[in-house]
Amino acid sequence: MHTQVGIIGAGPSGLLLSHLLHLNGIESIVLENRSRQYVEERIRAGVLEQGTVDLLNDSGVGARMQKHGMVHRGLDLLFEGKRHRIDLGELTGGKAVVVYGQHEVVKDLIQARLDAGGQILFEVGDVSLHDLTAAQPRIRFVKDGVAEEIVCDYIAGCDGFHGVSRAAIPSGVIREFERTYPFAWLGILAQAAPAADELIYAHHERGFSLFSMRSPQITRLYLQCAPDEDLAAWSDDRIWNELHTRLETDDGWKLNEGPIIQKSITPMRSFVAEPMQYGRMFLAGDAAHIVPPTGAKGMNSAVADVKVLARGLTAALRDQGTDLLDAYSTTCLKHVWRKQHFSWWMTSMMHRFADNTAFQDHMQLSELNYLVRSRAAATMFAENYVGASVDSQ
Ligand code: APR
Ligand code: PHB
Repeated sequence: MHTQVGIIGAGPSGLLLSHLLHLNGIESIVLENRSRQYVEERIRAGVLEQGTVDLLNDSGVGARMQKHGMVHRGLDLLFEGKRHRIDLGELTGGKAVVVYGQHEVVKDLIQARLDAGGQILFEVGDVSLHDLTAAQPRIRFVKDGVAEEIVCDYIAGCDGFHGVSRAAIPSGVIREFERTYPFAWLGILAQAAPAADELIYAHHERGFSLFSMRSPQITRLYLQCAPDEDLAAWSDDRIWNELHTRLETDDGWKLNEGPIIQKSITPMRSFVAEPMQYGRMFLAGDAAHIVPPTGAKGMNSAVADVKVLARGLTAALRDQGTDLLDAYSTTCLKHVWRKQHFSWWMTSMMHRFADNTAFQDHMQLSELNYLVRSRAAATMFAENYVGASVDSQ
């Protein structure tokens, strides 16, 4: 088998790359080790920046998002029992975010690729990468018990943090920057109408909490918990009690409860690998960088990479030069580090750190108070949240 671009991973990065390349007349094959059902049902964050929304619309995969996505022009920061609205639209010259589950984006992209005759091979095993610095790198894998090989012009490593692509780069070539946090998020989906139209990020002495949503019928909620938290110790009653406590406001607002249909734990990590390329292989999305979920930058960061990569690969494969591709990592690392900083900063400001002194608690609250009182500070927050800051896209 031969393809122009061999893509490892059918998450948002790999699928969007394959779709954009197809629109440019470049063929690719996507290899995914999980099943189609698994990737379509994997619950992740669900806040799309304006740039992500625009790219999905402009590339023709935005129809369901336009129908079911919820446009949010503001959000609340809740601390010391009071809600403070950040008017994202007003502070950013009319920009907004769209709340639409990442797995819905994945479904839309898979459908678009299959409708266009694209090749996505699900449930492949033993994926390995070879000759990355040669003119024709190769991917080996096993499908239905048969060993296969694809000869490629380029390879895109879109296989997430635990994938094989980054690991295939010889040690010493890549520099890794990492920070782990002493907490995780316990996330639930509840069959309950969201009790507010906008997200609420809550700072509380018992720990961070987040009110979000997926649809007019489904509420999405998170609680800061221990990194090794045992889900079995969290009965539905305990979860609701904790949510009510952490999301309590002085204005009488209350969550709607309903049956909990999904529970999971999300670890928190900041990670960047530099450079994001080696020979003829390019890393995109979680394969190259991870953010903690505060601020929901993960998928937006991945989409921003893929936009640059699709352009670079297209130019190279049309014999228009490799300048864009050569500069891929340098170009991407600008938006990558901007989003890293914002996610780290928001995480640090909103969470309870077990070893925080009373002084540090005051620092968090003073920063939050400043953020909601100063237009300059609120604008900084809003620009980053919607992805309109310098270097964000
Ligand atoms: N071979 C083939 N596929 C693999 C392999 C492998 N060895 N290892 C991992 N994969 C697949 C995973 O099963 C997954 O479907 O690669 C895909 C990577 O997808 P994501 O983890 O969703 O990463 P990405 O597409 O970069 O999307 C980034 O996902 O994790 C969130 O917060 C993150 O929202 C961000 C987005
Ligand atoms: C979500 O709805 O899952 C979500 C929203 C905002 C975040 C993180 C996750 O910052």
